[in-house]
Amino acid sequence: MSDKREVRVLFSEAEIAQRVEAMADELSKAGFRNLLVVAVLKGSFMFAADLLRAMHRRGMKPQVEFVHLSSYLEGTVSQGHVTILKDIESDVADRDVLLVDDILESGRTLAFAKDLLSARGARKVMLGVMLEKPLKRVVQIEADYVGFKCPDEFVVGYGMDVAHNYRELPFIGVVS
Ligand code: IMP
Ligand code: MG
Repeated sequence: MSDKREVRVLFSEAEIAQRVEAMADELSKAGFRNLLVVAVLKGSFMFAADLLRAMHRRGMKPQVEFVHLSSYLEGTVSQGHVTILKDIESDVADRDVLLVDDILESGRTLAFAKDLLSARGARKVMLGVMLEKPLKRVVQIEADYVGFKCPDEFVVGYGMDVAHNYRELPFIGVVS
């Protein structure tokens, strides 16, 4: 659709770029071994692409995989279920894994992914997210690397969508 509404900028392209570089600095000092970066589709694609290039600039040589998960609420019980739409192809046994996602909200998606990769024998599973909504967690899980704390608003851009729109925006904003 071309009739997109205006988006109020919350985190600019420059602010995001600065945070991504700072996160890559931290990651380069973490001492990962045989690192596999697993980007959670679809929302993380832009963040993952920027973060991976920043990691490369610091001499890191991670492998990269993608997992596509869908999270939905079923019935009247507020219990979230996560299903795998596309799995990774690599073996994670004895490897360090960095799960990368756009936003940590309830925590269901990333808790599922973390448990899955741990159960497959990953040595360590770390979480890196662009945004964190601090008051929204229903599952006990924290990110190891966070771009920004996100206000309690529905955000779009930098890979994130509302009804498949706005993913292409180079900044993060709120639809007004
Ligand atoms: P949860 O942590 O399992 O609740 O799922 C977080 C996922 O919900 C993210 O990966 C996003 O795909 C989506 N999401 C949550 N909040 C927002 C938002 O404000 N804008 C866009 N997508 C969101
Ligand atoms: Mg997502």
